[in-house]
Amino acid sequence: MKVPELVKVSLEVNGHRFEGEVEPRKTLADFLREELGFTGVNLGCEHGVCGACSVLLDGAVVRSCIFLAVQAHDAKITTIEGLAKGEKLHPIQQAFLDHHALQCGFCTPGMVLAAVDLLQRCPHPTEMQIREALSGNLCMCTGYVNIVRAVSAAAEKSRISEKP
Ligand code: FES
Ligand code: FES
Repeated sequence: MKVPELVKVSLEVNGHRFEGEVEPRKTLADFLREELGFTGVNLGCEHGVCGACSVLLDGAVVRSCIFLAVQAHDAKITTIEGLAKGEKLHPIQQAFLDHHALQCGFCTPGMVLAAVDLLQRCPHPTEMQIREALSGNLCMCTGYVNIVRAVSAAAEKSRISEKP
């Protein structure tokens, strides 16, 4: 069977619609970085192990290095660049800043997006649930303690703001 050289894709990234053609074997990570310029999608292992390339696809976290761009046809993607509202950081980004939850920052986009996914599914997680949700994201700087603290603080802040 002849594999087409280029396939049409249409997807929304960070609220903007993109339509174009892509090689069928191109990963979503390479597509986002190389074609659309979202270089906050970091590439570490490129084998689905480290979580650095995590993005949200229709609200759920996926590893874009093992996901094909063509599989994202018609989907809504959020990368780290899509979280802040202008100058205002997303509450989880702000919590990472406040709790010194990043060192070199390489794992940070993936960690933040995994935390966004967690708090959407489970707004008031226990520490164990946070650790479990982030366990697939590796931090080479080993800053896990402050990362868990930051996610916990972001959840607590949203709990306080929910109170009548
Ligand atoms: S770069 Fe995708 S999981 Fe490591
Ligand atoms: S802050 Fe450096 S890899 Fe996590």
